[in-house]
Formats: sequence, C-alpha cells, structure tokens
Amino acid sequence: MAAERVFELTWWGMLLACPVVFGVLLRLPAAYGRHKNVQGAQPARWWGPGIPTRWAWILMESPSSIGFAVIFALGDRALEPVPLLLLLMWQSHYVQRSFVYPLRMRVRPGDTTPLLIPLLAIVTNLAVSFLNASTLSWSRLGPVYDSAWLGDPRFVGGVLVFALGYHINRKADAMLAALRRPGESGYRIPRGWLFERVSCPNYLGEFLIWSGWAIATWSPAGALFLLWTLSNLVPRALANHRWYRTMFAEYPPRRRAVIPYLL
Ligand SMILES: NC(=O)c1ccc[n+]([C@@H]2O[C@H](COP(=O)([O-])OP(=O)(O)OC[C@H]3O[C@@H](n4cnc5c(N)ncnc54)[C@H](OP(=O)(O)O)[C@@H]3O)[C@@H](O)[C@H]2O)c1
Repeated sequence: MAAERVFELTWWGMLLACPVVFGVLLRLPAAYGRHKNVQGAQPARWWGPGIPTRWAWILMESPSSIGFAVIFALGDRALEPVPLLLLLMWQSHYVQRSFVYPLRMRVRPGDTTPLLIPLLAIVTNLAVSFLNASTLSWSRLGPVYDSAWLGDPRFVGGVLVFALGYHINRKADAMLAALRRPGESGYRIPRGWLFERVSCPNYLGEFLIWSGWAIATWSPAGALFLLWTLSNLVPRALANHRWYRTMFAEYPPRRRAVIPYLL
C-alpha cells in the first residue's frame, strides 16, 4: 500500500478513535497507578497479567522515541535543518519520558501494570510516531519546512508554548515523585505552585507541550496528536480529581482538575 494511503488511514482511524477513547476512559479509567486497585479491588482479568511498572513505562514509551527516530531517518528530508530541529524537540520530551522518567518515578514497592496497557500504548505510540515523523521528513507526506519557517510566528510561538509545557510537566512530575520517600507506597495531597490551582498540572503541561507541537509543525499530524492526548488525559484528570476528593476529606475545595479556574 502506498505511504500516502497508510498515512490517511492511520490519521482517520485515530481521529475516529478519539471520541471512543474519551467516552470509554470517562467511565473506566485505565487500570494503572491509583486507578488500578480501586478500593482494594484487583483490576479485571482482561487487563492481563501485571509487569513491573518501571518496565511498563519503558516498554510503552520507547517506541515514541526509537520508532519516531527510525521513521524520521527513512525520509528524504531527514538531513534538513528545520526537520532536524523539530526532531530534537520531539526527542527532548520522549527520551526523557521513555528512559529517564521511569527510573526517577517513586514506584510503590512491587507495583505492576497490567500488560494490556503497554501493549495498547505501543500500537498507538507507533501510529502517532509514524504520522508525526513522516510529516517532518517525508516530502510525499508533509509540508516543506525550509529555513524561512524558523522566523514564522507559528514556529516561534509553538516552540515557546512547547517549552512552557515542558517546564510545567517536568516540574509537576518531580514534585509528585518527591511526595514519597523510597520504599513508601502511600499518597499525599500535593501542595504549592500549580498544585494549588489544579490536581494534575503534569497533564496541563502535557496539553501545552502538544499544543506547542501542533502550532510549531502546523500539521494535521500535530493537531491529531493534541486531540489524542486530550482524549486520553482529560478523563484521567477528572478521575484523579474525583479520587483525591474521595480519599482526602480535607482536599482543597477550590482546586480544579486540570485547567485553572475552568475544569
Ligand atoms: N501523552 C499522553 O497521552 C500521556 C498519557 C499518560 C501519561 N502521560 C504523562 O506521563 C506522566 C505520568 O502520568 P500518570 O498518569 O502516571 O500521572 P500520575 O497519576 O500523576 O502519577 C505520576 C507518578 O506520581 C505518583 N503520584 C501521583 N500522585 C501522587 C500523590 N498524591 N502522592 C504520592 N505519589 C503520587 C504516581 O504513583 P502511582 O503510580 O503509585 O499512582 C506515579 O508514580 C505525566 O507527566 C503525564 O502527563 C502522558
């Protein structure tokens, strides 16, 4: 099948999956982290056997780094400066997410993640990587990013939004990791900084990262990935927020789930 056709089918397939994923996750949060053992219950069997959580993160996120790099390298514009710069942006996030974040997170002793979660994530991360990497470096599939693009307000604005999101996401992840000492397994109310406004500033940062990417690449692939991220993480933010309110009677009442003052 021609690459154009594969691109089109993948893009439309993921677009149609967005409302389905959003609807399912609103009712049934993915069974990892705090939503795995709701009130002591085990995740349903169909989520599959558990694998160590650190390995699950490496397994599910590394295709977004390695797969993306391979697909990008196959393109005829892979050595051009602007696509290379955009590759660097992407990898600045995904090398961290795939190989640094899993080592730094404070995993509960013995915690596992059901196999179905990394398996589904591998498939969707490869699809997203194909769409975005080929947009950058395959001239049959994406726009031409020549050096004039570096001065375009969409590129400059997109990079700034990406950088802001990157900072928020990393800082929030680090503050959450600091809530547990090594070997601890409980949860605490996060305090300070953006946590005073929302329960999930890490997801807010993620939304800004991919908004910045969509603007800086000004591409259907970038826009789709933003929509995909929102479809996954808005329901999870709402579920996390509900969970905090259920677990902690003293949870700050004015805190929102993910968008300050709004949601
Ligand atoms: N692009 C995407 O679609 C996508 C999808 C998923 C995740 N992500 C990103 O991946 C990162 C992690 O996501 P996540 O869903 O695992 O985030 P999370 O639920 O906030 O958990 C992050 C880490 O902090 C721990 N933690 C969270 N709240 C805590 C608390 N109150 N007290 C003590 N420890 C706490 C968690 O432990 P437990 O695991 O034990 O709960 C986990 O190790 C985020 O930056 C997120 O944006 C991106």
